[in-house]
Amino acid sequence: MKDLVSLCTRKGFIFQSSGIYGGINGCWDFGPLGVELKRNLKDDWWYTFVQMRDDIVGLDASIITHPEVWVASGHVAEFHDIVVDCKECKHRFRADHLEGPKCPDCGGELTEPKQFNSMLRTRLGVSEDTAVETYLRPETCQSIFVDFKEVYSSSRMQVPFGIAQIGKSFRNEVNPRNFIFRSREFEQMEIEFFCKAEDETKWFEAWKIAIWQWYLDIGLTESKMRWLAHPKEALAHYSSRTEDVEYEFPFGWGELQGLANRGCFDLTQHSKHSGKDLSYFDATTNERYMPSVIEPSAGADRTTLAVLCDAYDEEEVDGEKRIVLRLDPKLSPIKAAILPLVKKDGLAELAQGLELKLRRKFNTFYDQSGAIGRRYRRMDEIGTPFCICVDYESKENGTVTVRDRDSMEQVRMPMDELAAYIGKRCSHERD
Ligand code: GAP
Repeated sequence: MKDLVSLCTRKGFIFQSSGIYGGINGCWDFGPLGVELKRNLKDDWWYTFVQMRDDIVGLDASIITHPEVWVASGHVAEFHDIVVDCKECKHRFRADHLEGPKCPDCGGELTEPKQFNSMLRTRLGVSEDTAVETYLRPETCQSIFVDFKEVYSSSRMQVPFGIAQIGKSFRNEVNPRNFIFRSREFEQMEIEFFCKAEDETKWFEAWKIAIWQWYLDIGLTESKMRWLAHPKEALAHYSSRTEDVEYEFPFGWGELQGLANRGCFDLTQHSKHSGKDLSYFDATTNERYMPSVIEPSAGADRTTLAVLCDAYDEEEVDGEKRIVLRLDPKLSPIKAAILPLVKKDGLAELAQGLELKLRRKFNTFYDQSGAIGRRYRRMDEIGTPFCICVDYESKENGTVTVRDRDSMEQVRMPMDELAAYIGKRCSHERD
């Protein structure tokens, strides 16, 4: 983890938020490469689950909602961590994270466990007297339930169908930790899939397959993944069945995604609290009912971390350490680096012209500084799958070499074939 965190900071993937002020616990900034990586990951998720399916539509709802949403959802009453405080150093801990009866920081005596609501509060309104207290959403899915009727009637979707959303969520985590694994501000990628109650199990099983396949498609190592079923007594207040996909991080197994059967809990609650009927009318059978919900709920930051951990590799090449991020090319922040062998003799100009052409198609990078070997290594470290070298032969016959990040093998090809060659290998499109 230390090596990966160091690479992320050094190369501009992820920094601690507000670093010049000493940082702020549980908040992270994605730098120039990190934002590309996370965006590619979210785009691939959207491509797979929204664009490529005709039974799912998207939504981008506001982060701040009417406060009653969180009363109806059960979060005001139920979204608690059980915490204990150290009587000596005053540090707070989640009771379920403790390994012994004493404070893990100073060995001091701990208080009795108490409840702590993890929602972040905010006030909305321009006057102190009239501003309403509400919350930054702790999960993206509630707006999907609240907007259920508007979405299905405007898009003419029919059960079974799903609504997907990617967006920020906020939780006042007691102990943010393990880099971006547990943060206070993070992004979720959630689907609420509406089906008939009698089809819950069928859809739960179908979603298990679809979710698992997506992790394989983005390149995670299958032997580092597993399913973990929640025991009945540990289920969230809304769920009758939950199974998590876990990944084996360097610090241990951790949840990447939860798959829950939420039944008709949320739609029923919002109907009750808003006074608006959110039941579904099936015009083909003349039936009215409250659909059940199967919810795959993934974290974009955690998946980004898993992808980085999985891709990070060190090896020895010609007596030197090579750090290489073996990212799936479709996730790589930069798809191709264009490198003139030397700056002189018109090679720099030729390479710059080529880079300008290729950047219309995908993210490219031009680099002319330092020995070619060093430039290759810099690209390996940030996961760039292809390095294109413009050399003297390029001037003569319009061909360049293309070096593969993983095998380090080079092939020669005409410049005008590059866009198709690289585009195909970096595309989201599945065969
Ligand atoms: N709507 C259901 C829900 O929010 P969850 O298991 O609490 O379920 C779903 O969260 C996913 O969101 C988790 O599997 C994880 O990937 C991500 N997540 C939750 N809390 C997080 C945190 N504090 N930091 C980063 N990601 C988090």
